[in-house]
Amino acid sequence: MNPDGKVTRFPRHDVLFEPLAIGPKTLRNRFYQVPHCSGFGTQKPLSQAALRGVKAEGGWAAVCTEYAPVSADSDSMPSVSARLWDDDDARNLALMCEAVHRYGSLAGVELHHEGMIANPRESRWPAVGPSQIANVAYPDGAAPKAMDIDDIRRVQRDWASAATSARDIGFDIVYVQGAHSALLAQFLSPSLNRRTDRYGGSLENRARLWLETLELVRKLVGDDCAIAARLAVDALGPWGATLDDGLRFVELADHLVDLWDITVGAIAGFERLDSAASRFFGEGYELDWTRQVRAVTNKPLIGVGRFTNPDTMAELVRRRDLDIIGAARPSIADPFLPKKIEEGRYEEIRECIGCNICYSRAEYGGHIGCTQNATTGEEYRRGWHPERFSRARTASKNVLVVGAGPAGLECAIVLAKRGHDRVHLIEKHADVGGCVRWISRLPGLGEWRKVLDWRLLELDRFRGNIELITGTTLEAADVLSYGAELVVLATGSRWAGNGFNGITFEGIAGADDSQNFVLTPEQVMLEGKRPPGERVIVYDCEGYFMGASLAELLQLDGYQVTIVTPHLEVAPLCNETLEGPRLRHHLHELGIEMVTTASLSSVTERGARIRDQFGQETEVAASAAVLVTQRLSCTELYNDLTGRDLQGTGIEGIYRTGDCVAPRLLADAIFDGHRLGREIDSRDPRTPLPYRREGLVADAAHARRAR
Ligand SMILES: Cc1cc2nc3c(=O)[nH]c(=O)nc-3n(C[C@H](O)[C@H](O)[C@H](O)COP(=O)(O)O)c2cc1C
Ligand code: SF4
Repeated sequence: MNPDGKVTRFPRHDVLFEPLAIGPKTLRNRFYQVPHCSGFGTQKPLSQAALRGVKAEGGWAAVCTEYAPVSADSDSMPSVSARLWDDDDARNLALMCEAVHRYGSLAGVELHHEGMIANPRESRWPAVGPSQIANVAYPDGAAPKAMDIDDIRRVQRDWASAATSARDIGFDIVYVQGAHSALLAQFLSPSLNRRTDRYGGSLENRARLWLETLELVRKLVGDDCAIAARLAVDALGPWGATLDDGLRFVELADHLVDLWDITVGAIAGFERLDSAASRFFGEGYELDWTRQVRAVTNKPLIGVGRFTNPDTMAELVRRRDLDIIGAARPSIADPFLPKKIEEGRYEEIRECIGCNICYSRAEYGGHIGCTQNATTGEEYRRGWHPERFSRARTASKNVLVVGAGPAGLECAIVLAKRGHDRVHLIEKHADVGGCVRWISRLPGLGEWRKVLDWRLLELDRFRGNIELITGTTLEAADVLSYGAELVVLATGSRWAGNGFNGITFEGIAGADDSQNFVLTPEQVMLEGKRPPGERVIVYDCEGYFMGASLAELLQLDGYQVTIVTPHLEVAPLCNETLEGPRLRHHLHELGIEMVTTASLSSVTERGARIRDQFGQETEVAASAAVLVTQRLSCTELYNDLTGRDLQGTGIEGIYRTGDCVAPRLLADAIFDGHRLGREIDSRDPRTPLPYRREGLVADAAHARRAR
């Protein structure tokens, strides 16, 4: 705090706010939003512009698109990306440039070609690659076309044309991107590039396509735009350069590049290290590689690795390990991270927890979302700003929020930000946080505790608005007589104790969590209940983190664990969060057995009957079963209140939020709490307000053209 009582940043962080020239452009500070998908691409230009504009407003000196293919044979349906194929794409992306420039930031476009990892279901062109090598990781069992020289020239022409229109619509930074197993990485790879012409063989030949394209783009737009290259300096396998080749490539291309944006690993599988989940990697985990790049270039260098700690970032820049702090997830979790550091508002920083739900939603769900930041992706369609909240028409009313789990906390905080100053938040346990309290104690999920940490700091910041009362259980009569005008129930959910599941739509014969040989996740984590004997079955119908994490915990406790799951593989939802291959490998290393495509028919204290996908039943010996079958909403209080006469109680509305409506992803439960807070003064807060949709609305002219 300075003598005027104003909060200021620590001088040791000043280095993060020094401008830096990148080719013909200047970054106003060292915070750079590296390319990341949103699910908006060029198809939802208003959502795209609003998402990126908010980041520019939050202080990111450069804000980039996601990957933006330059050619029609590089579509990746059903994933939605940016594109720069034609004037329509350009018009759509121009909106993003305007939004970013409005706040004095630079706009970057990640020009890209998928090559043999394209999934050209829209264009129905064949995918192309350096050689005709099939790619089992991608659907359709297809093999790519080996690019002939005409294909090479065509892709280069497309790149040149995309770069020119990018410059013309206002982009300041133009990428020639070859990270994440893209076409240019495929050419660099000695495993995938088996060509015998000038584009295959020696490193100089394998690098030729990339170098020529850089040269072309530089010649066309290099006076007006900074030229960036994104490189996985070590692909950690066949999908790109070896470390030696990667470093040598930096030397070969250095004179053509204004900005190196360095990552590690491949797009998918065990070699996917970029965007690593916090389960396996901490802040700065890519630095071992970027430091080696620093040794071979003096050009401005961006590195990534879930950077959220201002001290770490400042130290990296001061030592010139990096010149620029690249961030995808930290910018999603907190678009205002740079501004908060700049203004010394450190306690307001909402740190990314590394769960990768953003990746799952943007890549597979078509719409980005975030566990920590409920406003991500909602900037345009719901008009939500991460830092601005309108005053609620209900602000003068007393609000009672029952349940201080993730949804209840979020709702209470949003209500406070909307001007409610008499919010009572009641929690029956001594600690707040609901399921996050114990989920964050599962192996590898410690970072998830930050969901709670940030909200506790916000509770403190808004202590004048929110009164937190813990260790208090409210019955229906207590709620009715509380004196609240608005009541929010956020009572969460619990795991079924009888094995009720979505396979048989029934419980499991013999399953009863009052028995010592049947356990639920809450019993293991909250009550310390432990299985008798040594052999334990974890039955996982959910397919996300819970079954795998409990299996790991119990195996580490000394049990011999078998995971039984009806899914094709253990924890398939973790594939979307980039954890799957590494997680299964880890479980295997720990000695955990995995039985897939199988369901539990019955359990006893001696074991379980397991039914395989063909209906064959076998006995598996075990002394206990942990049931991760499905969660059920805790609706007792709601049911007790339903149908009561509210006359004379002063209560105007009773609303539910989060898992007590329907158990779901943490991100979606928090979103629900946030939504209720944002819409508490709507006509019917129970029903979400309509959101703005983007898409072509056919008019008479369209209809005529279609005839
Ligand atoms: C949701 C999401 C989408 C991403 N999409 C892209 C992309 O389109 N192009 C790209 O080069 N990298 C993409 N990445 C990788 C990021 O640019 C970045 O290299 C990586 O997430 C590590 O940075 P971080 O730790 O700051 O998230 C994506 C990452 C995330 C989380
Ligand atoms: S979804 Fe998870 S990993 Fe992605 S930005 Fe949000 S907190 Fe970070």
